[in-house]
Amino acid sequence: MPIEVIQGDITRLPVDAIVNAANEALSGGGGVDGAIHRAAGPELHEACRAIPFVRPHVRCPTGEARITAGFALPARHVIHTVGPVWHGGDQDEPALLTSCHRESLRLATEHGVRTIAFPAISCGVFGYPPELAAPVAIASIREWLDAHALPADVLLCCFSAGMASVFRHALGTT
Ligand code: APR
Repeated sequence: MPIEVIQGDITRLPVDAIVNAANEALSGGGGVDGAIHRAAGPELHEACRAIPFVRPHVRCPTGEARITAGFALPARHVIHTVGPVWHGGDQDEPALLTSCHRESLRLATEHGVRTIAFPAISCGVFGYPPELAAPVAIASIREWLDAHALPADVLLCCFSAGMASVFRHALGTT
């Protein structure tokens, strides 16, 4: 099964790449972003600061992705993507969440990534209801895998048991 749901801390995973649910400035934050920056060490901040602004305060627009090294993480790369803030569902949230997954997978493939782990992008501070986000995330990943040879394995890394259960249900494994 190339897509698998696991429960745990994404910063501990010895995969080729982990995906970060970042903000547009790539300035670090709370949630999984904070955990990744703490575990990677200060070089990750420096690497993010070296990514050029595309407009004031924006290094990575919502729905796009950027890649850095993983530094002190077990993962070789961090792919930073910015999920949509949930505004009720009529502000292109599903299309933007799809784009996050697709653009992350595109960068991963360009860098020869065989194993990649995604967190539940937008499902924390950004307020996307997990029951709505999980099917969008999984459909986007399946669409990519149907058309490309890489990555070979995709982990959906959920921090809580409740989130893992929502993603397992969406994957059809419950
Ligand atoms: N491993 C895996 N998942 C984690 C971890 C971890 N170590 N820590 C938190 N999570 C989970 C959260 O429980 C949530 O289910 O990641 C999911 C995404 O939540 P957030 O990190 O809040 O991400 P998001 O909703 O996309 O909000 C992004 O938060 O920290 C800021 O800079 C970030 O502004 C950006 C915003």
